[in-house]
Amino acid sequence: MSDSASAELLGQIRLHGRIPRHVAIIMDGNGRWARERVMPRTYGHRAGMQSVRDVVEGAIEVGLETLSLFAFSKENWQRPKLEVSALMSLLEEYIQREADALDDNGVRVRVLGEIERLTPPAAAAVSRVTAQTAHNTRLDLNLFISYGARAELVRAARLIAEDVAAGRLDPGAVDEAEFAGRLYTAGMPDPDLLIRTSGELRISNFMLWQLAYTELYVSPVLWPDFRRAQFYEAILAFQNRDRRFGKVSV
Ligand code: FPP
Repeated sequence: MSDSASAELLGQIRLHGRIPRHVAIIMDGNGRWARERVMPRTYGHRAGMQSVRDVVEGAIEVGLETLSLFAFSKENWQRPKLEVSALMSLLEEYIQREADALDDNGVRVRVLGEIERLTPPAAAAVSRVTAQTAHNTRLDLNLFISYGARAELVRAARLIAEDVAAGRLDPGAVDEAEFAGRLYTAGMPDPDLLIRTSGELRISNFMLWQLAYTELYVSPVLWPDFRRAQFYEAILAFQNRDRRFGKVSV
């Protein structure tokens, strides 16, 4: 889609005015995109990195507070070794290339998941960009890496058990807020909108707690072809939804 078509969509989003605070994305379809071109899967991941750049810029334009991207699941460690190491290198490359631009644009980068499992160079890049952008306030960019929602929930339960065992927390005081405060997303708003690309109708162990009232949007477009215009279309679709949170419309 042309730049002017994107600008038109952005204009419509602003006119509508109900801007989501937090959008989460399951970026899917890199492998299929590469296969369609008779190329290795890593070619698709590299193209997907361009989509990440474009969508982050789009999120800033729209005025989101938080953008969450599911970049690498716990299950992804089971992919062939070469693909896993290519994904680690791409993460490192993305951070190296983008850190200054993200910082200049006021983006605070956070990485959520079992970061202790990352390769040392990827972990070092993550620490650098996290520290470099920690002071920014325009957009929170959450990269979910080596992340699984069930593991996140179990971790929160363990942290609560430890606090109770140590006498820091009364079991009767364990409520939703105490629990949410022990998730990786502590202090962040829940996503208003979840986008999944490539047409799959699954949550795939992503943000199971946080998505309780999130609007779902599935795009048939494969992630490397999902750019700013497609992102804006998803937000426009969200703006036309009727969110009731279990209540009735007024
Ligand atoms: C899903 O496609 C995508 C991934 C497992 C990796 C996502 C990574 C990127 C977009 C690039 C790097 C990102 C950052 C933030 C640096 P798939 O391989 O499951 O595709 P398929 O379902 O068609 O096989």
